Amino acid sequence: MPVSQENFNKLGRYLENGHQLVRGIKAIAEDQMPPRRYKGEELVELVGAKVNTIYMAEKEGRLPSPDLDPNTHRRLGATLEQVLVMQEYFGTRPWRRPEEAAVVMSFTNFKGGCWKTTTSWYAGSYYANLGYRVLFVDLDPQASLTYNCGILPDFETSHEQSLGPYILEEEGFPASWAKQVIRDTHLPNLKIIPSTLQLAGVEYALSNAIMEARSESDRLSKMMHWFHRVKDIVNEVKADFDIVIMDGTPSLGLLPLNIIFASDAVVVPVPTEITDFASTLSFGDLYKDQSETLYQTFGDDVVLPDMLFLPTRFSASEKTATLGSEFVLEQIRKTFSTDCMQSVIKKHEAVVSNLSLMRRTVFDVNAGDANVNREARKRAMANFKTVFDEILERAVYPRWPSKKAVLEEKGIY
Ligand SMILES: Nc1ncnc2c1ncn2[C@@H]1O[C@H](COP(=O)(O)OP(=O)(O)O)[C@@H](O)[C@H]1O
Ligand SMILES: [Mg+2]
Repeated sequence: MPVSQENFNKLGRYLENGHQLVRGIKAIAEDQMPPRRYKGEELVELVGAKVNTIYMAEKEGRLPSPDLDPNTHRRLGATLEQVLVMQEYFGTRPWRRPEEAAVVMSFTNFKGGCWKTTTSWYAGSYYANLGYRVLFVDLDPQASLTYNCGILPDFETSHEQSLGPYILEEEGFPASWAKQVIRDTHLPNLKIIPSTLQLAGVEYALSNAIMEARSESDRLSKMMHWFHRVKDIVNEVKADFDIVIMDGTPSLGLLPLNIIFASDAVVVPVPTEITDFASTLSFGDLYKDQSETLYQTFGDDVVLPDMLFLPTRFSASEKTATLGSEFVLEQIRKTFSTDCMQSVIKKHEAVVSNLSLMRRTVFDVNAGDANVNREARKRAMANFKTVFDEILERAVYPRWPSKKAVLEEKGIY
């Protein structure tokens, strides 16, 4: 069929409708989602002080007075913002010590749909809800993490508001200014450097830069420079945070490679499904080849992250003889041995998709909010908590001498 201008006009109208819909959904989420409130046991654990001690401090004005239900005059529970104030007052913040460095991590695999973005998002939300200062760095042009954090990609972000120009060292964008593009989210201690579609162009520009560097006399140092752009920038912005989580595309392009080099720890989500397990092995092969070549070329200048393998998409009910989740999980454990995590991410379809619509994680909502089944919420919270606590113990605390005591207590060290 011959194409006419009307084809493009029609597509334009469809897209405008779609964009309006997305903006509408965003507005609903912003209006309707109440903050999570902590009370009772949860509050005690989070603040590290007894309920009566907290109440007394509130009564005596050492802490702000609590929010009360206007009708019943009962306590509503503390928001995360109020919890952070209490942690500061009681000296129970979980923060790293000032002389310790923020831990930078990423969930990486070149397989799409193995829950990288969602797991990054849930991890950041979990750590922020414990009181850590968390920074997301979105480097996926598809910008799902940006969207999940309440920022509409490309409408509310642009090339200049992403890491793009800093990575490419455009004039007027030195790495030391990258702090400017950090944005707020609905949680006071969770920030994000958003993404934009134009990061796709950054991937091309980076490969051109590497190609050019190859023909130059100081090519080794030039190439190292372009592999470490994200690391150099993250080093400039991480001082105000405890944990930095980066999200990228499912490929082994130069941006994802930059993410790997910028990470202290890379968690590789491995779906417990046989085809995806196979492609994870290919990812491993490619990564091994590339990093080995780099090591042979650059020697000790190449610092590689710790790797942990995290089984995902686990569904205990899928026990279909040989190809079920259980079977593949066993193979993953055998293959990656001690670098395989003990915990696995299970399927929580209803919870994750209902909450995605509201741009909230299970850690951001109260029981009964957003039509999420209470039992399913509890199960999802418990599962994610196990996974993210294991990441804390294996990838974060070992880098903070002040937290080693926590590990020793548990007999891990
Ligand atoms: N634990 C989970 N349980 C159920 N569905 C999930 C879970 N984690 C992610 N999903 C869903 O899987 C899909 C792909 O996830 P996503 O995180 O975008 O993958 P990736 O970033 O690896 O491409 C999304 O629709 C997401 O809602
Ligand atoms: Mg993704």
